[in-house]
Amino acid sequence: QAQREKQLKDLYGILDEAARFYQQQLTQHPQRDSAVSYLKGRGLSGQAAKAFGIGYAPPGWDNLMQALGADKQRIEALEQAGMLIHNEERNSHYDRFRDRIIFPIRDMRGRVIAFGGRVLGDEKPKYLNSPETETFHKGRELYGLYEARQTNAQLQRLLIVEGYMDVVGLAQNGIHYAVATLGTATSAQHLERLFKVVPEVVFCFDGDTAGRKAAERALETTLPVIRDGQEARFLFLPEGEDPDSLVRTEGRDNFQTRINQALPLSEYFFRSQTEQADLESMDGRARFSTRALPLIRAMQPSLLQQMMLERICEITGLSLEQINSVINLHQVTTD
Ligand code: GTP
Ligand code: MN
Ligand code: MN
Ligand code: MN
Ligand code: MN
Repeated sequence: QAQREKQLKDLYGILDEAARFYQQQLTQHPQRDSAVSYLKGRGLSGQAAKAFGIGYAPPGWDNLMQALGADKQRIEALEQAGMLIHNEERNSHYDRFRDRIIFPIRDMRGRVIAFGGRVLGDEKPKYLNSPETETFHKGRELYGLYEARQTNAQLQRLLIVEGYMDVVGLAQNGIHYAVATLGTATSAQHLERLFKVVPEVVFCFDGDTAGRKAAERALETTLPVIRDGQEARFLFLPEGEDPDSLVRTEGRDNFQTRINQALPLSEYFFRSQTEQADLESMDGRARFSTRALPLIRAMQPSLLQQMMLERICEITGLSLEQINSVINLHQVTTD
């Protein structure tokens, strides 16, 4: 137990050293120019880069290892932390992050737990994340949550976006309350964590097919966890835009207006459910209800749930009793 604690402490320690190393490289490495001009080209200010601890992993296979891997024990710690990859054949190690812009990922307490790295050009993969480690559990962590809380201890609302650059770009433009899931879908664990911090979340994914799919999935993840007193809304961006690109072109106030006008969960739910159905016909209304009812049934017992059921009644023209007599919905009110 004591040994495990020591190991964890070493992991956090070496991750912090790595973050400092990458930050230093951005200002000092002889080949930093390409990274600096990339960031400038994207309109990133030095202040924003500093606020998020953005750094640079220079080209080469062993920059980090040379800088931080003084002995065997430290090399093993770097590997445990996901920073080095062990080549079994040659029994040697090499840096995971090479020639990439580096985004340190912090936990709620501000400790560096992992990194994301972006290529400077169009190479693939565009982003690389640390692997799952003892300090990093992807399905739980949210990029930018620590930084958002640092800026405002009394956050009322959080915006959930897709990418690192969305979080940073929004913050640079005065919207300091965005967080990103790390290339994974929004999980129930994410939502539970978020609702512990704020009563309102606004989903704001990219204006593309993947982004709309992500919203659809976020809706289905949110329905079973949301409670009265909590609010979830959905903001859809124009085709081809993401939060970073849009806030840069239209500015903070316009973007803020979009946030304020985001669709409430129930509105998005009924819009997306009815889009796929022909409510003009009886058959369409039956099909729509058959699809919608199980999702509503999965919700926490709440006023919102009752009102959404009422809405189904309005659409079908049936009473709750009539619906219940056909579909066993009794759990809805007694769960
Ligand atoms: P920029 O091109 O830098 O503006 O990135 P973006 O955030 O707009 O990229 P995109 O919308 O394509 O992806 C959103 C997020 O998904 C990224 O921020 C990453 O977290 C993740 N992601 C994108 N591409 C990859 C990839 O190739 N590998 C992994 N692991 N994650 C990715
Ligand atoms: Mn090893
Ligand atoms: Mn996208
Ligand atoms: Mn982008
Ligand atoms: Mn994007």
